[in-house]
Amino acid sequence: MKFFIDTANLAQIAEAESMGILDGVTTNPSLMAKEGIKGKDAIMKHYTDICKIVNGDVSAEVMSSDYESMIEEGKELAALDKQIVVKIPCTADGIKAIKSLGDMGIRTNCTLVFSTGQAMLAAKAGASYVSPFIGRLDDIGANGIELVSRIVNIYRYYGYQTEVLAASIRSVQHIIQCMEIGADVITSPLKSILALLNHPLTDNGLKIFQEAADQMTK
Ligand code: G3P
Repeated sequence: MKFFIDTANLAQIAEAESMGILDGVTTNPSLMAKEGIKGKDAIMKHYTDICKIVNGDVSAEVMSSDYESMIEEGKELAALDKQIVVKIPCTADGIKAIKSLGDMGIRTNCTLVFSTGQAMLAAKAGASYVSPFIGRLDDIGANGIELVSRIVNIYRYYGYQTEVLAASIRSVQHIIQCMEIGADVITSPLKSILALLNHPLTDNGLKIFQEAADQMTK
Protein backbone atom coordinates (compact mmCIF):
# COMPACT_ATOMS: atom_id res chain seq x y z
CA MET A 1 0.00 0.00 0.00
CA LYS A 2 1.34 3.48 -0.79
CA PHE A 3 1.76 5.97 2.08
CA PHE A 4 1.14 9.62 1.22
CA ILE A 5 1.45 12.39 3.79
CA ASP A 6 -1.48 14.80 4.00
CA THR A 7 0.21 18.13 4.63
CA ALA A 8 1.79 21.16 2.94
CA ASN A 9 4.35 21.51 5.75
CA LEU A 10 7.80 21.12 4.20
CA ALA A 11 9.47 20.02 7.45
CA GLN A 12 6.97 17.21 8.01
CA ILE A 13 7.27 16.11 4.38
CA ALA A 14 11.08 16.05 4.73
CA GLU A 15 10.83 14.05 7.99
CA ALA A 16 8.55 11.47 6.37
CA GLU A 17 10.81 11.30 3.30
CA SER A 18 13.87 10.73 5.49
CA MET A 19 12.21 7.59 6.92
CA GLY A 20 12.18 6.01 3.48
CA ILE A 21 8.48 5.15 3.64
CA LEU A 22 6.96 8.12 1.81
CA ASP A 23 5.32 7.50 -1.59
CA GLY A 24 3.70 10.88 -2.15
CA VAL A 25 2.00 14.00 -0.78
CA THR A 26 -1.54 15.32 -0.81
CA THR A 27 -2.44 18.93 -0.13
CA ASN A 28 -5.64 20.94 -0.20
CA PRO A 29 -6.38 24.68 0.06
CA SER A 30 -6.85 24.46 3.87
CA LEU A 31 -3.49 22.71 4.33
CA MET A 32 -1.76 25.24 2.05
CA ALA A 33 -3.33 28.25 3.82
CA LYS A 34 -2.20 26.78 7.16
CA GLU A 35 1.41 27.30 6.00
CA GLY A 36 0.82 31.02 5.62
CA ILE A 37 1.32 30.98 1.88
CA LYS A 38 0.06 34.17 0.13
CA GLY A 39 -0.26 34.86 -3.59
CA LYS A 40 -0.26 32.73 -6.73
CA ASP A 41 3.53 32.83 -7.23
CA ALA A 42 4.14 31.64 -3.65
CA ILE A 43 1.54 28.88 -4.05
CA MET A 44 3.13 27.58 -7.25
CA LYS A 45 6.64 27.79 -5.72
CA HIS A 46 5.46 25.82 -2.70
CA TYR A 47 4.28 22.99 -4.93
CA THR A 48 7.65 22.89 -6.69
CA ASP A 49 9.40 22.92 -3.30
CA ILE A 50 7.34 19.86 -2.26
CA CYS A 51 8.27 18.10 -5.52
CA LYS A 52 11.98 18.68 -4.72
CA ILE A 53 11.62 16.86 -1.38
CA VAL A 54 9.60 13.79 -2.41
CA ASN A 55 9.99 11.52 -5.44
CA GLY A 56 6.33 10.51 -5.63
CA ASP A 57 3.06 12.06 -6.75
CA VAL A 58 2.06 15.43 -5.28
CA SER A 59 -1.63 16.34 -5.31
CA ALA A 60 -2.22 20.08 -5.91
CA GLU A 61 -5.85 21.21 -5.72
CA VAL A 62 -7.55 23.69 -8.01
CA MET A 63 -9.15 26.67 -6.27
CA SER A 64 -11.86 27.42 -8.83
CA SER A 65 -15.13 25.53 -9.25
CA ASP A 66 -16.19 26.16 -12.85
CA TYR A 67 -15.10 23.90 -15.70
CA GLU A 68 -13.12 26.42 -17.76
CA SER A 69 -11.20 27.77 -14.76
CA MET A 70 -10.41 24.27 -13.50
CA ILE A 71 -8.99 23.36 -16.90
CA GLU A 72 -6.78 26.46 -16.94
CA GLU A 73 -5.62 25.89 -13.35
CA GLY A 74 -5.07 22.19 -14.02
CA LYS A 75 -2.84 22.88 -17.00
CA GLU A 76 -0.81 25.42 -15.01
CA LEU A 77 -0.38 23.06 -12.05
CA ALA A 78 0.55 20.08 -14.22
CA ALA A 79 3.17 22.18 -16.02
CA LEU A 80 5.02 22.76 -12.71
CA ASP A 81 6.37 19.22 -12.44
CA LYS A 82 5.67 15.71 -13.76
CA GLN A 83 4.98 14.67 -10.15
CA ILE A 84 1.96 16.98 -9.91
CA VAL A 85 -1.46 15.34 -9.86
CA VAL A 86 -4.29 17.88 -10.21
CA LYS A 87 -6.86 17.58 -7.41
CA ILE A 88 -10.43 18.25 -8.58
CA PRO A 89 -13.61 18.28 -6.44
CA CYS A 90 -16.29 15.68 -7.27
CA THR A 91 -18.87 17.96 -8.90
CA ALA A 92 -20.47 18.01 -12.37
CA ASP A 93 -17.89 20.57 -13.56
CA GLY A 94 -15.18 18.61 -11.77
CA ILE A 95 -16.01 15.31 -13.47
CA LYS A 96 -16.08 17.08 -16.86
CA ALA A 97 -12.71 18.69 -16.07
CA ILE A 98 -11.22 15.33 -14.98
CA LYS A 99 -12.23 13.83 -18.34
CA SER A 100 -10.84 16.78 -20.35
CA LEU A 101 -7.58 16.97 -18.40
CA GLY A 102 -7.17 13.20 -18.76
CA ASP A 103 -7.59 13.54 -22.53
CA MET A 104 -4.69 16.03 -22.39
CA GLY A 105 -2.56 13.48 -20.52
CA ILE A 106 -2.89 15.29 -17.19
CA ARG A 107 -3.32 13.07 -14.14
CA THR A 108 -6.07 13.89 -11.63
CA ASN A 109 -7.19 13.09 -8.10
CA CYS A 110 -10.97 13.34 -7.62
CA THR A 111 -11.46 14.70 -4.09
CA LEU A 112 -14.27 15.34 -1.60
CA VAL A 113 -15.77 11.94 -2.42
CA PHE A 114 -18.38 10.62 0.03
CA SER A 115 -20.34 8.00 -1.92
CA THR A 116 -19.90 5.04 -4.26
CA GLY A 117 -21.86 6.90 -6.92
CA GLN A 118 -19.34 9.74 -6.87
CA ALA A 119 -16.47 7.23 -6.98
CA MET A 120 -18.02 5.49 -10.00
CA LEU A 121 -18.24 8.78 -11.92
CA ALA A 122 -14.63 9.62 -11.00
CA ALA A 123 -13.45 6.28 -12.41
CA LYS A 124 -15.59 6.61 -15.56
CA ALA A 125 -14.07 10.08 -16.13
CA GLY A 126 -10.60 8.54 -15.90
CA ALA A 127 -9.37 9.99 -12.62
CA SER A 128 -5.94 8.64 -11.63
CA TYR A 129 -6.99 8.66 -7.97
CA VAL A 130 -10.25 8.92 -6.03
CA SER A 131 -10.16 10.38 -2.50
CA PRO A 132 -12.97 9.14 -0.24
CA PHE A 133 -12.91 11.10 3.05
CA ILE A 134 -13.09 8.64 5.97
CA GLY A 135 -12.90 10.99 8.95
CA ARG A 136 -15.48 13.46 7.74
CA LEU A 137 -18.00 10.63 7.22
CA ASP A 138 -17.24 9.28 10.70
CA ASP A 139 -17.73 12.81 12.04
CA ILE A 140 -21.41 12.69 10.97
CA GLY A 141 -21.99 9.14 12.25
CA ALA A 142 -21.53 7.43 8.87
CA ASN A 143 -18.96 4.68 8.23
CA GLY A 144 -15.97 5.99 6.27
CA ILE A 145 -14.06 2.70 6.17
CA GLU A 146 -17.13 0.92 4.80
CA LEU A 147 -17.28 3.41 1.91
CA VAL A 148 -13.60 2.80 1.08
CA SER A 149 -14.19 -0.96 1.14
CA ARG A 150 -17.21 -0.69 -1.19
CA ILE A 151 -15.26 1.50 -3.63
CA VAL A 152 -12.34 -0.97 -3.65
CA ASN A 153 -14.74 -3.84 -4.43
CA ILE A 154 -16.65 -1.93 -7.12
CA TYR A 155 -13.41 -0.89 -8.88
CA ARG A 156 -12.11 -4.47 -8.75
CA TYR A 157 -15.43 -5.82 -10.12
CA TYR A 158 -15.36 -3.48 -13.14
CA GLY A 159 -11.58 -3.45 -13.57
CA TYR A 160 -11.12 0.32 -13.16
CA GLN A 161 -7.51 1.50 -12.91
CA THR A 162 -8.35 4.50 -10.72
CA GLU A 163 -6.43 4.13 -7.44
CA VAL A 164 -8.38 4.36 -4.17
CA LEU A 165 -6.60 7.01 -2.07
CA ALA A 166 -8.15 6.83 1.40
CA ALA A 167 -8.17 10.34 2.86
CA SER A 168 -9.34 12.28 5.92
CA ILE A 169 -7.56 9.76 8.12
CA ARG A 170 -7.79 10.45 11.85
CA SER A 171 -6.05 7.46 13.48
CA VAL A 172 -3.73 4.47 13.28
CA GLN A 173 -6.85 2.31 13.23
CA HIS A 174 -8.00 3.99 10.02
CA ILE A 175 -4.65 3.15 8.41
CA ILE A 176 -4.76 -0.48 9.58
CA GLN A 177 -8.36 -0.90 8.39
CA CYS A 178 -7.40 0.54 4.97
CA MET A 179 -4.55 -2.00 4.79
CA GLU A 180 -6.99 -4.81 5.52
CA ILE A 181 -9.58 -3.76 2.91
CA GLY A 182 -7.04 -3.19 0.13
CA ALA A 183 -6.98 0.57 -0.36
CA ASP A 184 -4.25 1.43 -2.87
CA VAL A 185 -3.07 4.48 -0.96
CA ILE A 186 -3.60 6.14 2.41
CA THR A 187 -2.89 9.80 2.96
CA SER A 188 -2.43 10.74 6.57
CA PRO A 189 -0.93 13.28 8.95
CA LEU A 190 2.62 12.22 9.93
CA LYS A 191 1.61 11.53 13.53
CA SER A 192 -0.75 8.70 12.57
CA ILE A 193 1.88 7.15 10.28
CA LEU A 194 4.52 7.32 13.03
CA ALA A 195 2.07 5.90 15.58
CA LEU A 196 2.07 2.64 13.55
CA LEU A 197 5.45 2.01 15.17
CA ASN A 198 4.16 2.20 18.74
CA HIS A 199 3.92 -1.04 20.75
CA PRO A 200 4.69 -1.47 24.49
CA LEU A 201 6.13 -4.97 23.95
CA THR A 202 8.68 -3.55 21.50
CA ASP A 203 9.67 -0.88 24.01
CA ASN A 204 9.88 -3.39 26.86
CA GLY A 205 11.76 -5.95 24.77
CA LEU A 206 14.31 -3.36 23.67
CA LYS A 207 14.82 -2.27 27.30
CA ILE A 208 15.56 -5.89 28.29
CA PHE A 209 17.95 -6.34 25.34
CA GLN A 210 19.75 -3.10 26.19
CA GLU A 211 20.17 -4.19 29.84
CA ALA A 212 21.68 -7.50 28.61
CA ALA A 213 23.95 -5.63 26.21
CA ASP A 214 25.10 -3.35 29.03
CA GLN A 215 25.97 -6.39 31.15
CA MET A 216 28.18 -7.70 28.34
CA THR A 217 29.90 -4.45 27.43
CA LYS A 218 30.27 -2.44 30.66
O1 G3P B 1 -6.51 16.47 2.13
C1 G3P B 1 -7.64 15.68 1.92
C2 G3P B 1 -8.16 15.11 3.22
O2 G3P B 1 -7.26 14.16 3.72
C3 G3P B 1 -8.43 16.15 4.27
O3 G3P B 1 -9.23 15.55 5.25
O4 G3P B 1 -10.88 15.76 7.08
O5 G3P B 1 -8.42 15.87 7.59
O6 G3P B 1 -9.52 17.77 6.40
P1 G3P B 1 -9.51 16.29 6.65
